[in-house]
Amino acid sequence: MEKIIVEGGRRLQGTVSVSGAKNAALPILVSALLAEGWSVYHNVPDLRDVRTIKRLLTDLGVQVNTQGSTVKVNAGTLKSHEAPYDLVKTMRASVLVLGPLLARLGRARVSLPGGCAIGARPINLHLKGLEQMGAHISLEHGYIDAEAPSLKGADIYLDTVTVTGTENLMMAAVLAQGVTILRNAAREPEVVALATALNQMGAHITGAGTPVVTITGVDTLKPTSVTIIPDRIEAGTFMLAAGVTHGHIKIIGTEPGHLAAVIHKVRQAGITVEQEPDGLRVVCEQTLSSVDVKTLPYPGFPTDMQAQFMVLMCLAPGLSVISETIFENRFIHVSELQRMGADIKVSGNTAVVQGGKPMTGAPVMATDLRASASLILAALAAEGTTEISRVYHIDRGYESIEQKLAQLGARLWRTRG
Ligand code: EPU
Repeated sequence: MEKIIVEGGRRLQGTVSVSGAKNAALPILVSALLAEGWSVYHNVPDLRDVRTIKRLLTDLGVQVNTQGSTVKVNAGTLKSHEAPYDLVKTMRASVLVLGPLLARLGRARVSLPGGCAIGARPINLHLKGLEQMGAHISLEHGYIDAEAPSLKGADIYLDTVTVTGTENLMMAAVLAQGVTILRNAAREPEVVALATALNQMGAHITGAGTPVVTITGVDTLKPTSVTIIPDRIEAGTFMLAAGVTHGHIKIIGTEPGHLAAVIHKVRQAGITVEQEPDGLRVVCEQTLSSVDVKTLPYPGFPTDMQAQFMVLMCLAPGLSVISETIFENRFIHVSELQRMGADIKVSGNTAVVQGGKPMTGAPVMATDLRASASLILAALAAEGTTEISRVYHIDRGYESIEQKLAQLGARLWRTRG
C-alpha cells in the first residue's frame, strides 16, 4: 500500500498551475455517448476517476483514445447498455451513464451505487426524474434496469439540489421529445460546463447556472471539441496550502469567479488574495483569524473544500464553527486531525474548532478524497513528519499532487509498504 510522507514546517513559495476539473471532465466525457463520431476533449486531468470513466466507456463499446491531456471519444461503436458493479463500486459518478444510455439506446442497466464514506448518497432524484420522462425503472439484484423506447420532456422539481442528478437528467432530456424543465437545478460551474458542451453538440439548453434549466429535445447530436474548465477545488486547496504554511503562491490557470465564496472566506481568515491577469496570488503573512463556514450548494461554500478549510481553522487562534449541510458524514477527517493535535468537537453536522494549537506530524489514514487533501495540508503545517496511508483516495482527484507541492518547496514523497 502506498503512503505519502511529508516533512512539515516549510513555507510554500512559487507558482503552481491548476489541472482540468475532475467533476467537469467526468460528465463531459460521458456526454460523448450521445453522438456518433469522434469528440475531442482537451485539458483532461490524468486521475484515477477519469481512468475509471474511460474504462467504463470502453466497456460499453466506445472507442477512447488518450494522448497526454487530450482524450478522443467515439460512441459510434456503442454496443452495451450495462455499467457493471465492479466499476460503479469504485466510482459513484459512473451512474452518469444512465441518462445518456437511456436517451441513445432506450435502455440502461447500471449497478446501483451503494453508500460511501461521506454519506448514504441516494440517487432517488435521478430515477424519479427519469420516470417522469417516461422511463420504466426497476431495481433488482443490485442493478437499476431502465427502459424507455422514447423519453418525453417533463417538468421536474428536484427536492434537493443534486449535481450529478441535474447532469444525468440534462443528458437524458437533450434527446427527449419536447421540453424538459429542471427546477431547483444545481448551479455548479461543472453543470454549466456540461450544458455548454451539450449545446456545442447541437442541444438546446437554456438557464444552466440558474435554478431553472430548460431543455428542448432534438433528434440527434453531433461530436464536438471541448476544453475542460480548471479545477476550482484543486485551486482552493492550493490557496489553503499557502495559508497553512504562511506561504506566497501564484496559482495559474484558475477561474477566480468559480471560487468567490472560498476567496471570501480565505480573506476573512487573514490571507491576501489578489487577482492577476493570469491567476491568483495568495500570500499569508499575518496571524490567521478564526471564521465560521457553512457548506452549501454553489454559489455557497463548497462541501469539497470543508475538510481543507478546517485545517486552516485548526491553525487560527480562536473558535470557529464549521457546519456541513450537504453530506451527513463528512467529518471523518476530524479524528485523524485530532491525532495531529487539533482540538475539534463534533456534534451532528457541526464541528467546533479551537484553533491556534500546534500541530505535530503523526501516522494518519486517508478516508476519502477531500479528507486526504486535508491531511496533506495539516502535514505541511505540522512540526515533524507525517505518514499518510491509503493515498489512493488522493489520486482520484488531485493530478500530480506531490510534484506540484514539491515544486512549491514542500518536502514530501511516496513510499510503498
Ligand atoms: N441526494 C439525494 N438524492 C439524489 C441525489 C442526491 O438525496 O438523488 C442528496 C445527497 O445524498 C447529498 C446531496 O443531495 O446529501 C447533494 O448530493 P449531490 O447529488 O449534489 O452529489 P453528487 O452529484 O453525488 C457531486 C460531486 C461531489 C460533490 C457533490 C456536492 C461529482 C462527480 N461529484 O456529487 O464531489 O461533493 O456533488 O457538491 O460531481 C468530490 O469531488 O470529492 C466529490 C465528492
